[in-house]
Amino acid sequence: MRVGIIGCGAIGTEISRAVDEDGRMELVFLVDRHPERVEKLCSMLRKKPKFIKFSGEGFEELLPHIDLLVECASQSAVCEFVLPALRAGKDVLILSVGALVDAELLEEVERHAKEKNCRVYIPSGAVVGIDGLKSGGIGKIHSVRLRTRKPPCGFEGNKHVNFEELNEASEPKVLFRGSAKEAVRLFPENVNVAASLSLAGIGVEKTEVEVVADPTIDKNIHEVEVRGEFGRFVTLVENVPSPSNPKTSYLAALSAIATLKGIVSNVRVGT
Ligand SMILES: NC(=O)c1ccc[n+]([C@@H]2O[C@H](COP(=O)([O-])OP(=O)(O)OC[C@H]3O[C@@H](n4cnc5c(N)ncnc54)[C@H](O)[C@@H]3O)[C@@H](O)[C@H]2O)c1
Repeated sequence: MRVGIIGCGAIGTEISRAVDEDGRMELVFLVDRHPERVEKLCSMLRKKPKFIKFSGEGFEELLPHIDLLVECASQSAVCEFVLPALRAGKDVLILSVGALVDAELLEEVERHAKEKNCRVYIPSGAVVGIDGLKSGGIGKIHSVRLRTRKPPCGFEGNKHVNFEELNEASEPKVLFRGSAKEAVRLFPENVNVAASLSLAGIGVEKTEVEVVADPTIDKNIHEVEVRGEFGRFVTLVENVPSPSNPKTSYLAALSAIATLKGIVSNVRVGT
C-alpha cells in the first residue's frame, strides 16, 4: 500500500516510522508547513519518501502515486488535503476527527467517498471503548459520557482558558461540561476523542463531555461510560502524553498504526 502523509508532528513521525518499517507499505510523500520537521523525520527513515512538500500547492499532482492518504496535521488540513484525495478516488485515514463535527464537511466527506467508492478510516485514537460502542449501537444506546482529565500543560495555548492561572492551581478544575459539539469547538486540539465517540455512537449533540485540568496527574485520562439496551460499560485509559506534543496521547499514534496494519492484514480482530 502506497501511503502519503500530511503532518510531520508527534503522530506523523510515529506513523511514518511504522510505515517505513512495514514491508507491506511504502511511504511515498510527506507534507508539512515546517521544513525542519520534515527534515528531522526524514533523517529517521530507512527509505526516504519520493516527494516532499511544504504547502498544499501542487498537492493534487502527488495523488496518482498513492493508494491512501493519512491526515495527521490539523482540522483545516481535512478540507485542504482530505477532500482532494477523496475526489481523486483515494482512501483516507483521518486523525483530526474534530473537523467532522462540522455536519457540512462530514456530509461532503461521505458523499465523495460514496461517489468514488473509497474508504474513510477513523482510528479509535486516544480513547478506549469504540468497539463496544459500535456493537452496542446496533441496538439502542441510551447515553454516552466522556470525562477527560489532563495536566494543565495539555491546555497551553488554548484561547478559552487562562493558562497561567491554571498552571498555578493545585486542585483539579472543571473547564467544561456540555455537548461533544461544543467541547470540540472550545478544545479543538484536546478532545478529538469526543468527536470519535460521537461518530461511533449517538452524535455530537447527545454525547456528554466533561473536561478537567488536573495538576495532580501526569497522564491524559479518558473515562467513558456507555448505557444501552446491551447493558452498561465503563472504560478508563491513562494515556502517556507524547513527548513532543503533550496535548497528544501516544496511544493515538499507535491506534492509527494499528488501523493501517489492519488494512494490509488478511485477518482483522475486533469490531
Ligand atoms: N483522533 C485522536 O484521538 C487524536 C489524538 C491526538 C491528536 N489528534 C489530532 O491529530 C492531529 C496531529 O496531532 P499531532 O499531535 O501530531 O500534532 P503536531 O502539532 O505535533 O503536528 C502537526 C503537524 O502538522 C503540520 N500541519 C498542520 N496543519 C498543516 C497544514 N494545513 N499544512 C501542512 N502542515 C500542517 C504542523 O506543521 C505540524 O508539524 C491534530 O489535529 C490533533 O488534534 C487526534
